[in-house]
Amino acid sequence: MASSVDSTALELSQLGINEDFVSSVPNLRKNLHLLSPEQIELVKILLEMGQSHLFEHWAEPGVDDNEKKAFFDQVARLNSSYPGGLASYIKTARGLLADSKAGKNPFDGFTPSVPTGEVLTFGDDSFASFEDRGVREARKAAFVLVAGGLGERLGYNGIKVALPAETTTGTCFLQSYIEYVLALQETSNRLAGECQTEIPFVIMTSDDTHTRTVELLESNSYFGMKPSQVKLLKQEKVACLDDNEARLAVDPHNKYRIQTKPHGHGDVHALLYSSGLLKNWHNAGLRWVLFFQDTNGLLFKAIPASLGVSATREYHVNSLAVPRKAKEAIGGITRLTHADGRSMVINVEYNQLDPLLRATGFPDGDVNNETGFSPFPGNINQLILELGPYIEELSKTGGAIKEFVNPKYKDASKTSFKSSTRLECMMQDYPKTLPPSARIGFTVMDTWLAYAPVKNNPEDAAKVPKGNPYHSATSGEMAIYRANSLILRKAGVQVADPVEQVFNGQEVEVWPRITWKPKWGLTFSEIKSRVSGNCSISQRSTMVIKGKNVYLKDLSLDGTLIVNTAEDAEVKVEGSVQNKGWTLEPVDYKDTSVPEEIRIRGFRINKIEQEERN
Ligand code: UTP
Repeated sequence: MASSVDSTALELSQLGINEDFVSSVPNLRKNLHLLSPEQIELVKILLEMGQSHLFEHWAEPGVDDNEKKAFFDQVARLNSSYPGGLASYIKTARGLLADSKAGKNPFDGFTPSVPTGEVLTFGDDSFASFEDRGVREARKAAFVLVAGGLGERLGYNGIKVALPAETTTGTCFLQSYIEYVLALQETSNRLAGECQTEIPFVIMTSDDTHTRTVELLESNSYFGMKPSQVKLLKQEKVACLDDNEARLAVDPHNKYRIQTKPHGHGDVHALLYSSGLLKNWHNAGLRWVLFFQDTNGLLFKAIPASLGVSATREYHVNSLAVPRKAKEAIGGITRLTHADGRSMVINVEYNQLDPLLRATGFPDGDVNNETGFSPFPGNINQLILELGPYIEELSKTGGAIKEFVNPKYKDASKTSFKSSTRLECMMQDYPKTLPPSARIGFTVMDTWLAYAPVKNNPEDAAKVPKGNPYHSATSGEMAIYRANSLILRKAGVQVADPVEQVFNGQEVEVWPRITWKPKWGLTFSEIKSRVSGNCSISQRSTMVIKGKNVYLKDLSLDGTLIVNTAEDAEVKVEGSVQNKGWTLEPVDYKDTSVPEEIRIRGFRINKIEQEERN
């Protein structure tokens, strides 16, 4: 091993290790001479933090020495990737595990109330002016996609961002996000009369997603973005915990490894901070950081207006939200005021909101008000932070986010766990440490416009109680067609009503399959300007607009129309288009002869006949 220390020449005390600690781990003692000074420092931390059991089964020197080195490589990584190191992780874990054992309520002493925010109505004047402002601000924004999650609930074998958001064009989530950012960049620069600004695009990955994310980008030429514009930050997993003393869990498959699990998307703040990117962006004059998740095909329809709200209302934190039905399984954005004067605006998970309300003078708990919705907006976990105050806060915290622990106890004594647990953190808990002076708000938009994540596998989605969202690949794709249909309706196109169909056991509305590239229409005013006269689209129709300067005029579509144009060519699409079109053919999710991306949505598109305009 590099720079090894000869134990025969060194007393334990010289190494700075307490004799009592080391004598409790004879197997480690025998191996001490193999260790470098840096590794000795890690030994000290582990022993002082009560982790001697990690060395219990170590072999004699000369046996498994490479594995022992790999053990310390892992410990060094765990130590350096956590703010405050492993000692701090273990200390925090002990505190949180003790609170959990005692059944302590994290909201003790807090009273909930409805915070202030902006509730938008798609397409009205105020929406249009927020969109206009948002597009102008976009060149001062950086976009951060958190994509390190395993996606266990979806159970897809690939990475989630590689899944087609819809199968009419087969555009995957990552491509769609990148194309939206590029379209924002182009329009925002044009409005500013400049063309140089590149909007930074960051993807947080993990060991579960990193390599495949790089492959997806590289094999598709970064979907048109400059490779230098995209930065990947990989999050590390954290150590698992075996008991209330926070003894680190030995990996069941390798006694020279600590078992690890994901820490959650809250890691994104520490990673952005330690990468130095935030400082670079600040120096480059950027003002906003937008955080978003891996599988929401609608999100960017909500981005221009929400960014406009951030800029107009000068929000340090703006949480995107949708109207929430009482008791719906979605967190509520809530102001919490403590008896001691502390106050914060954060997401309260739905299962905590009802008991909290009942305990604080709202005997009916989580109920709808006269609007038919809960007064607490539903959090969709997309955040817009103002960069200046964000950096200021992170320079105090290093990006550490308030964590939580969720052990599954074996019995009521709460002394042992069914399986190892770990600390977790969520990006939306960032405001928990902010001072009361921070300007925190929300932007509510219709669910049909802003939120349709793909999280559940077909089997679980089919079991979702009627009326609740499926959040499946089927519903995610149908939501894109519905949103595009509703937007065109609002722009004056007669779009036929949808029909109900069942795919993979889920009843969904099937609207005409309308899609367009972001550069065709980024905002409602832009889309409106591209449509004129008497346009109509029948329910069985498919329309794909790939060009930028495409104008629909008196179009009557009953079938499939694909409009492909060269970059700047102006094309008018007029008159009647009628053909056999494309149909949806049901497939079963269990039919493994069908590719996974297709069968998880329960239908495939049968391309019978189409008209192409170039
Ligand atoms: P989800 O709640 O969808 O979790 O994450 P998940 O891990 O992806 O899926 P399940 O729970 O295993 O089914 C919300 C977003 O946060 C990212 C995900 O990639 C997704 O965009 N995420 C989650 C991370 O980036 N890192 C994590 O450790 C967890």
